[in-house]
Amino acid sequence: MAKRKILVTGGAGFIGSNFVHNLLESYDDIKVIVLDKLTYAGNLQNLAKWKNDDRLLFIKADIANKHELDTRLHGIEFNEVAHFAAESHVDRSISGPEEFVKTNVLGTFYILELARKLHTSGNLKVFLHVSTDEVFGSLGKEGSFTELTSYAPNSPYSASKAGSDHLVRSYFHTYGMPVITTNCSNNYGPFHFPEKLIPLMILNCLQNKPLPVYGKGDNIRDWLYVKDHCIAIDLAMQKGKFGETYNIGTRNEKNNLEIVQLICKLMDSRNPEGAPHNRLITFVADRPGHDFRYSIDPSKIERELSWTPKYSFEEAIEETVDWYMNNKSWWKEILSGSYQSYYEEQYKGI
Ligand SMILES: NC(=O)c1ccc[n+]([C@@H]2O[C@H](COP(=O)([O-])OP(=O)(O)OC[C@H]3O[C@@H](n4cnc5c(N)ncnc54)[C@H](O)[C@@H]3O)[C@@H](O)[C@H]2O)c1
Repeated sequence: MAKRKILVTGGAGFIGSNFVHNLLESYDDIKVIVLDKLTYAGNLQNLAKWKNDDRLLFIKADIANKHELDTRLHGIEFNEVAHFAAESHVDRSISGPEEFVKTNVLGTFYILELARKLHTSGNLKVFLHVSTDEVFGSLGKEGSFTELTSYAPNSPYSASKAGSDHLVRSYFHTYGMPVITTNCSNNYGPFHFPEKLIPLMILNCLQNKPLPVYGKGDNIRDWLYVKDHCIAIDLAMQKGKFGETYNIGTRNEKNNLEIVQLICKLMDSRNPEGAPHNRLITFVADRPGHDFRYSIDPSKIERELSWTPKYSFEEAIEETVDWYMNNKSWWKEILSGSYQSYYEEQYKGI
């Protein structure tokens, strides 16, 4: 019987699946149970590499459905929880906030309750909740978010994540549960769903489609390579202090236009027939309530858990572009499904 038995909610999504890859590549003696509803963002292809590996078990279930959770997890043993499952796209939270409240708030509550039973019987080692820097709101030109920054969420997405963070915190103070929350900045890397900025730009370059940039493209995000993020989460699960929160970021602020220009440059050398790709840049109406700037101060996790990123931005963004170039069947399948109508609705008129 493996020593670490980890329930990974949302493990078929972008970060969750990268986390599963990291676990299965790093440890032989492990059992990973992925629990996922397989929404539009969940994809079993993200885990296809491990489909015949006994260390991985997949369970399809909705975290916001208590009955489904109870029945599908009945008899399944685990002693750690890494909670990634969430509705994650800000634009979708603006057009349809209800799913965000159900999954992110109610779903987190049910997962906490499940973990509480384990805790009561002395069988829970750690519950790690994956959250976002967006709970802190928007910054001006100066300053960075620390673990002490007050919460000020501005979108239904970030408000629902803030709600889940508070519930997690309360389970430490009320029930003494071994919980840890991490708040990270914007991730990028393999298996990122095409609606998000970086994959959207790469795929539109490859298809000679307009590159939609919100407003003037001057909103700033602090980009974190997903592989660095997953290593940090695993470290926090093993060495983090219960009841604490850790910010994860790599001091890598770029505005959206810089990111898009860089992707165009990388695509020019890889796809010369489309060059110059920056001719495709098309400015579109800004997102309502669009936070201007996020910036993470990761000093605490660096100082207390000795975490440092392994990858530079330059190598990681090239690796990401190459991943999309080399995994065409992965994204072509997504583009030919229901995502197509979302895309057309979202970007009609350009
Ligand atoms: N992507 C980022 O840049 C970023 C940044 C900060 C924090 N986060 C957080 O990290 C976590 C993972 O984000 P991601 O980018 O991988 O998201 P994602 O949208 O790619 O994946 C989410 C996964 O959760 C699953 N899911 C959704 N609702 C569910 C439900 N009701 N029951 C069970 N499974 C459900 C989906 O099927 C999918 O597999 C989220 O909690 C998100 O808030 C993401």
